[in-house]
Amino acid sequence: MKVLVATDKPFAKVAVDGIRKEIENAGFELVLLEKYGEKAKLLEAVKDVDAIIIRSDVIDNEVFEAAKQLKIVVRAGAGYDNVDLAAATAHNVCVMNTPGQNSNAVAELVFGLLVYAVRNFYNGTSGTELKEKTLGIHAFGNVGRNVARIAKGFGMEVCAFDAYCPKEVIEAAGVKAVDSVEDLYKNSNVVSLHIPATAETKNSINYELVNLMPKGGILVNTARKEVINEAELIKLMEERADIKYVTDIMPVANEEFASKFAGRYFSTPKKMGAQTAEANINAGIAAAKQIVGFIKDGCEKFRVNK
Ligand code: 3PG
Repeated sequence: MKVLVATDKPFAKVAVDGIRKEIENAGFELVLLEKYGEKAKLLEAVKDVDAIIIRSDVIDNEVFEAAKQLKIVVRAGAGYDNVDLAAATAHNVCVMNTPGQNSNAVAELVFGLLVYAVRNFYNGTSGTELKEKTLGIHAFGNVGRNVARIAKGFGMEVCAFDAYCPKEVIEAAGVKAVDSVEDLYKNSNVVSLHIPATAETKNSINYELVNLMPKGGILVNTARKEVINEAELIKLMEERADIKYVTDIMPVANEEFASKFAGRYFSTPKKMGAQTAEANINAGIAAAKQIVGFIKDGCEKFRVNK
């Protein structure tokens, strides 16, 4: 059995070592393809493998066509919008993610971005504090829960809205559950996005919604760039000089944001949320274990395609 780790954005070495141990202890072979850049290299590497571990790497129909022996793809991470699930099913390939394994890393980065934003990007002027401000968590999954925990340490008021998570679950975590997405934006000094990129959520963070935020509102995005309606956010930030946008996923219109909103906008050059040794180890080893469990015992826990 051949397992390919195909990561254009590589894991920390210590995580690769851990993955290798899991795979080799199971009697399988590990092949590593890092920083491959062009898709052609990925297409070549998948030809004779039985399983693939990926991160944000795009696995589309062309990849499934090339990977004749493929049985399973595990996205070491939460969001699997980079995998064509219908094509996977059509090729009889199981797709899994590793929910929760990198969520603390992403949640910590939210606060890295926020402190940077409220201290005026360290430009020497007086900023503000997070204490006693209200943080609105948009979607209360694994990352959202970690954000809530850390926000309390900062002394923030925390509220959340999640269209799919019952209010009682949010309240049980000691977080105020608001009734609607509009209420979340209306009542929050900071909104932190944790929604996946789906047909329903793409472009959903728009002018109307962000404009509900009180004066000085900050939008922080460690989720996906696709959920932002970039043209509308630009229009809003042109009209409202008080709004800041900080993101871990560079927008398509990064240059326009950067040139128009100096001092109010920041994007990491490369998505950094899950880039910690701990998150790489947790997600990478979980992915390796899930592959071994699937191949040896047929375990389909965390399968995301039908
Ligand atoms: C995820 O969905 O798990 C995060 O966005 C992390 O993505 P990455 O593995 O590409 O850093």
